[in-house]
Amino acid sequence: MCGIIGIIGRETVAPRLVDALKRLEYRGYDSAGIATLENGQLDRRRAEGKLRNLEARLGEDPLPGTIGIGHTRWATHGVPNEANAHPHATARLAVVHNGIIENFRDLKADLAADGYTFESETDSEVVAVYVTRQMDRGLGARDAVSSTLKRLEGAFSLAFLFTGDETLLIGARRGSPLAIGEGRGEMFLGSDAIALSPFTDAVRYLEDGDWTVVTRDGAEIFDALDRPVERPIRRSVGKAFYVDKGNHRHFMQKEIYEQPEVLAHTLGSFVDMTTGRTRLPQGQVLDFSGVRRIAISACGTGYYAALVGRYYFERYARIACDLDVASEFRYRESPLADVDLALFVSQSGETADTLASLRYAKEQGLKTAAVVNVQESTIAREADVVFPTLAGPEIGVASTKAFTCQLIALAALAIRAGVDRGVIDGEGELELTKALAEAPRLVNAALHAEGAIELLARDMATHRHALFLGRGFSYPLAMEGALKLKEISYIHAEGYAAGELKHGPIALIDETMPVVVIAPHDRVFEKTVSNMQEVAARGGKIVLFTDESGAAAGAVKTTHSIVLPDMPEILTPIVYAVPLQLLAYHTAVQMGTDVDQPRNLAKSVTVE
Ligand code: F6R
Repeated sequence: MCGIIGIIGRETVAPRLVDALKRLEYRGYDSAGIATLENGQLDRRRAEGKLRNLEARLGEDPLPGTIGIGHTRWATHGVPNEANAHPHATARLAVVHNGIIENFRDLKADLAADGYTFESETDSEVVAVYVTRQMDRGLGARDAVSSTLKRLEGAFSLAFLFTGDETLLIGARRGSPLAIGEGRGEMFLGSDAIALSPFTDAVRYLEDGDWTVVTRDGAEIFDALDRPVERPIRRSVGKAFYVDKGNHRHFMQKEIYEQPEVLAHTLGSFVDMTTGRTRLPQGQVLDFSGVRRIAISACGTGYYAALVGRYYFERYARIACDLDVASEFRYRESPLADVDLALFVSQSGETADTLASLRYAKEQGLKTAAVVNVQESTIAREADVVFPTLAGPEIGVASTKAFTCQLIALAALAIRAGVDRGVIDGEGELELTKALAEAPRLVNAALHAEGAIELLARDMATHRHALFLGRGFSYPLAMEGALKLKEISYIHAEGYAAGELKHGPIALIDETMPVVVIAPHDRVFEKTVSNMQEVAARGGKIVLFTDESGAAAGAVKTTHSIVLPDMPEILTPIVYAVPLQLLAYHTAVQMGTDVDQPRNLAKSVTVE
């Protein structure tokens, strides 16, 4: 999930490489580096940690040259230090890599037996050294790369720069994304269109197995069998992308506050707001009338959105849903004969496990659909049907607005499916879409709880553990709330179905354990109250997120209560997500962690 960039241009390239890396830093921030050529001489600067360390290094010791490559790293093999930072270089070349070379140990042993040495612990360096050996054996750069690619196992995108040749970059893609940007008299390689957006909006995406030879005048593309191929130029929407926190302290907070607007946007492509009727986003065709079973997979927060989606499809469309985390779906070998649709949920559209599951489903002959936020992503390009969420670029590593947009898209799709299948009549459809249309207003109301949540967060920050409980629609939210808290505050948190408490986790309850309970006054409210009583009886500290009716029931003594307006059941996951996000956010601020770039994480997980 590293970010890579390559530029072959006419002006000094180092500041432009750094600018592009800033847009790619969401992919990893363990270390960063760039390499350039000046008078044919290869030179590089690398630094451990955030990009600002590399910038400082370049400030002291700038790099000249009009051609270069850059990298921001999320460590897989080897600790995040300078020696393991990319670009990796030999006397002949430098390379940046995103992905994992699975057979690197074999290749390394083979190269070592030939007398080649290594400076790092990474899998990536073997690519540099292997190509070098091919060149030492007399091959030109192109043939050296293409013959090396055939020896690599695993997932990668690569960009190469060659000593002595200021007219050439070579890129390659298998598994991890790589795009070619076309400028006037200059060309670019990048992990995504966002990285290329300051330079060009004319982008070609390499397909799996493709590699490309890039000069200042254009790019030749070859497939895995080295046959020349054409890939279409797409106009990227990345130009509209602007990295700015507005008046907010962090991207995460800004993105939490954007939710009323992006929810309205997303809902608009699934519901005709003038008639209240559901529809599919423009250009997408899918008739749910024959769909009886859906297999859904996703990762992380997307998985919790998918879990809510399952409840929606089962409740409103009477469609049975199988649900897997994507890393399990593809290896579980579940019989898929009675599955009518495979559905994937992803913000980035590049998550390796989700993408592999999509491809697996296609191989099994299933129709595929994806709820996806990045419209130019691989998942968006490969799924048969695409349901875009219109959350806009999400920069904070912890997903917030993409999650609630996934929820509203899944809710609208479930209603649409219910209508197609004759489970919901016209009146029922109008009632449900009218409820969804209230989401922006109610999310806005939930944002008003920020002051109370900030106080609650001060208390939460004094604990090392927390439990989150919910039932029904609130069960996935309990898990999402726990994930958010642990991701950014590093407090250990677990989400449970409230009814499961007595089957084990109740042993953890004592007067020091905060138990966050998500309990709108819905059909399972009384059951959740019983579980809260079990906690109270053991002295646990109850933090209750409920609505006015739930608060009026006054069933249990709580340490803190956050009270939201009453709302239709279909909306509760969307609206209750907001105070949970704010709780994680303010707890992290209290703890002084790096909210937007928490340790060990990356925004786009393109390795298995
Ligand atoms: C959590 C988070 C991750 C992602 C997961 C899947 O806040 O952001 O758990 O949800 O890595 O990513 P996408 O949705 O891009 O497939």
